[in-house]
Amino acid sequence: MTVYTKTNPFLASIKERYTLCKPGSDKNTQHIVLDLKGSGITYQIGDSIGIWPVNDPETVSKTLTCMGASGDETVLDRHGEHSYVLRDFLTNKANITEINRKLVAEIGFRQTDTQKKTQLESLQEESNKDTFKKYLTERYVWDLLHENPEVCFPVQELCNLLMPMLPRFYSIASSSHVVGEEVHLTVALLQYHTNGYQRLGVCTHYLCNLIPLNHAVVPIYIQPHHGFTLPEDTQTPMIMIGPGTGLAPFRAFMQERMFQKASKANWLFFGERHRATDFFYEEFWQDLVAQGALRVDLAFSRDQEYKIYVQDRMREHGEELFSWLEKGAFLFVCGDAHRMAKDVEAALLQIIQLHGKMDEATSRQYLKRLRTEKRYLRDVY
Ligand SMILES: Cc1cc2nc3c(=O)[nH]c(=O)nc-3n(C[C@H](O)[C@H](O)[C@H](O)COP(=O)(O)OP(=O)(O)OC[C@H]3O[C@@H](n4cnc5c(N)ncnc54)[C@H](O)[C@@H]3O)c2cc1C
Ligand SMILES: NC(=O)c1ccc[n+]([C@@H]2O[C@H](COP(=O)([O-])OP(=O)(O)OC[C@H]3O[C@@H](n4cnc5c(N)ncnc54)[C@H](OP(=O)(O)O)[C@@H]3O)[C@@H](O)[C@H]2O)c1
Repeated sequence: MTVYTKTNPFLASIKERYTLCKPGSDKNTQHIVLDLKGSGITYQIGDSIGIWPVNDPETVSKTLTCMGASGDETVLDRHGEHSYVLRDFLTNKANITEINRKLVAEIGFRQTDTQKKTQLESLQEESNKDTFKKYLTERYVWDLLHENPEVCFPVQELCNLLMPMLPRFYSIASSSHVVGEEVHLTVALLQYHTNGYQRLGVCTHYLCNLIPLNHAVVPIYIQPHHGFTLPEDTQTPMIMIGPGTGLAPFRAFMQERMFQKASKANWLFFGERHRATDFFYEEFWQDLVAQGALRVDLAFSRDQEYKIYVQDRMREHGEELFSWLEKGAFLFVCGDAHRMAKDVEAALLQIIQLHGKMDEATSRQYLKRLRTEKRYLRDVY
């Protein structure tokens, strides 16, 4: 039996794909079903999937144009081990949507226009650290080449300066006991605007828009969880906090809990922008609520003038939440690491202080103990 890994991925097909947002939503989050038939791949609750994406052909073409290349040239990878046709290298192997300091430095070095050269050099000075950071996040490789047409690179030298394509990870939103040889994902199409252009996330655009259905072309492998999984004791109560795509693993958790005929003490906090358009998998959750197997608290951030987030709902129900923790509940957090996970943790500490009648230091110890007992588990990104 073949073992599929990061370096030897399985080529899966997308057998189903539909939007989880209702018409009028300003988001595009999709349910994606990958077909694992014939792979022998198995996965556990809490695992993620690694996906090697390919770059958008339009971005590749723009990069080639700005390089002054046809795409038919032959290049070697940076270790000089494998040769590629340039267009394939840019499509599959190179990170052409992010630029690095070394590439900017090299372009500055080769720039013959003195004004542009001085600008690029000044950007790299310590005093311009923040401006430089912003400059880097706003440009793809082609933006940089386009803004510096005076610089001419032999294609191999430019390729040596590009960062490699890396896999992306997606929480598995299904239990194999329920869906069989499939993996379900909840993917938010990343869309943003920088340097005058609309940009799409490489892998989310690939999964949501580029790949035709039923073509076995998506390179995948399982990324096992590191403890972010269901409690072994099926009678343990669970609190799940998952705004946005953070909801994904909890669909798998609840599919499995129902399969296990586990405790009905399950509590989900979900948040998105609008109740009318962004309550993902609403029927699934409502059905569980109707069966008495789930309690749901919702935080729709943009349905009123002020923001309401999951941590506000946690605070509102702080007394009960604390009593669940006292009864041995596991608490799971999934989703955005930059702001949400920190704010949720701050709310949790406040709840423990207030309802456990503890000072700050003792509440921190309480949380530390939950962590040590592997009852406070996070999968944040
Ligand atoms: C364990 C784990 C589980 C995950 N699970 C999920 C999941 O279930 N569902 C899901 O959708 N995602 C999930 N992610 C995130 C996912 O892996 C990708 O990071 C995400 O989908 C974006 O990938 P992309 O290739 O589309 O974007 P990329 O092309 O990689 O673009 C991301 C980059 O775009 C830039 N960027 C983004 N927004 C802006 C902006 N406003 N302005 C300027 N630059 C910006 C940033 O440089 C950022 O690093 C998970 C991540 C991890 C680590
Ligand atoms: N680069 C960034 O700054 C940034 C920020 C968020 C997400 N992301 C990434 O974007 C991708 C998709 O995100 P997503 O679709 O899962 O949803 P999301 O953008 O994380 O948003 C989901 C919900 O969480 C709310 N939210 C925003 N800040 C919060 C906070 N501090 N605490 C609690 N809730 C908060 C959002 O409200 P509002 O949007 O109305 O504020 C929204 O209602 C992910 O890969 C995520 O990591 C990036």
